[in-house]
Amino acid sequence: MRIKKIAVLTSGGDAPGMNAAIRAVVRSAIFHGIAVVGIHHGYQGMINAEFEKLESKDVRNVIQRGGTILRSARSKEFQTEEGRQKAYENLKKENIDAVVVIGGDGTFQGAGIFSQEHNLPFVGIPGTIDNDMFGTDFTIGFDTALNTIVQAIDRIKDTANAHDRLFLIEVMGRDAGFIALQSGIATGAEGILIPERDGQVDGLLKYLEANQKTSNIVVVAEGEKEGSIDELATLIRSKLPNYDTRTTILGHIQRGGAPSAFDRFLASRLGAAAVEALRDNQRSVMMGYKNHEVVHVPFNKTIKGHRNINQKLLIVADILNI
Ligand code: F6P
Repeated sequence: MRIKKIAVLTSGGDAPGMNAAIRAVVRSAIFHGIAVVGIHHGYQGMINAEFEKLESKDVRNVIQRGGTILRSARSKEFQTEEGRQKAYENLKKENIDAVVVIGGDGTFQGAGIFSQEHNLPFVGIPGTIDNDMFGTDFTIGFDTALNTIVQAIDRIKDTANAHDRLFLIEVMGRDAGFIALQSGIATGAEGILIPERDGQVDGLLKYLEANQKTSNIVVVAEGEKEGSIDELATLIRSKLPNYDTRTTILGHIQRGGAPSAFDRFLASRLGAAAVEALRDNQRSVMMGYKNHEVVHVPFNKTIKGHRNINQKLLIVADILNI
């Protein structure tokens, strides 16, 4: 079937570089004579028919902007069959032949279920700061978030040094430690706590006891399972009173800001690849980036597959921490 009109949306937590991906989808489609509709507020906007025709000029000057010009949402209604039926009817009314979704694993789950129920091609682009998607080395936004975190932690290190303090710094990653592990290595943190490893708190206490350095940085993933950073701080204060312990939660600062060069480049490549895939009559695949090449990963693999932490990185972090 020749595709004449596509829709594009961003869904779930926004990530820097989503705008660059939208731009690439819009311009690649227009280049090939395909009309583009932007859907506002992700799947919720599909249900509410928040459609807007997009021209090439509408994506001028957005490649450098964080957030998403299409807005985003986590739609509860799309998780119901009735919600998805409403969304399908709206897409049909608008004569949409295919959809490009940009988001994380929740977004792909939604796309996977929708494609089983309705005969409409979907392709996906991985956009989340968490970098936890199976089938791709990088997700759009991860590199920018890492750079934001490194800048913030460098600043904290200045004040930690000035006062001989121990800082516990919480970074994002609800279910995964990729952000914590990589930013911890990049900032030379004395400790890194991630959800994928057990017994870390004991190890950290032992390390701190044996290595009485003046200032220390411990990066803690939001999804870490052995307690919140406040609980951890209380524990350290009681067990190791010599340490002057402080906590910082970096929070949503990690999600905003201008995308890095890498995220703009990645988003541009994957956006163009998504349109190419649709022209090729592909469906239910995510555009992944493996070994510097674009790959197609079936939705069911991205949903069921689990991306493991690279054990070698844990060893590197431990070695560099002596
Ligand atoms: O999935 C991206 C992410 O930034 C997670 O790291 C974080 O746990 C979550 O979104 C926060 O979501 P919200 O902005 O909806 O609170």
